[in-house]
Amino acid sequence: MFIGSLIEEFRKQGIFKSNMKRIVLIGYMGAGKTTLGRVLAKHLNLEFFDLDWYVENRYRMKIPQIFQEKGEEGFRQLERLMLHEVGEMEDVVISCGGGTPCFFDNMDYINQQAESVYLKAEPEVLKEHLLMGKSKRPLIEGKSPEELIAFIRESLQIREPFYAKAKHVVNIDVIHTKQQIDDYVNQIAQITSKS
Ligand code: S3P
Repeated sequence: MFIGSLIEEFRKQGIFKSNMKRIVLIGYMGAGKTTLGRVLAKHLNLEFFDLDWYVENRYRMKIPQIFQEKGEEGFRQLERLMLHEVGEMEDVVISCGGGTPCFFDNMDYINQQAESVYLKAEPEVLKEHLLMGKSKRPLIEGKSPEELIAFIRESLQIREPFYAKAKHVVNIDVIHTKQQIDDYVNQIAQITSKS
């Protein structure tokens, strides 16, 4: 008991550094969080959690259905709760939803719990990825390419200050090949290994 609390105290003071790894990828929709997160987890031999999938599994509802039935506000509440669940797990890579860091004190929580990495991409890159992707995203559903780029520009400006709090930033260009994925994954693995 005494030894246990002593170790806990040392840990708090940073005297013992645990080898536990927890990496959280953040960034706008279409930045590549899920694509890179999955490969990164494999590369580092960690477990992978996609926060959207985790919410869908826990509540047995797809994201568009949650938006429809509970509104965006309801979704944000569930998203926050689930962030706190996966945020306690050890040896994981977590990819957040695009809006996760921008609500409540989520970004501070992410930084407290993990090595956060902002996958930063220009609006044109995000648009390109979103037009290629097949995921259903309620916030951009039914938008023409022109409306989409206008929406991305506007909302990215609002979100950027939250994303900018991440401990690390990786600049992302349009991802076309497996080689590009591997290069980004190596870059993320390297920057997060130093801390
Ligand atoms: C959202 C992004 C989505 C999902 C939801 C809301 C957002 O996740 O959480 O549709 O507010 O940017 P992805 O970034 O994985 O698409």
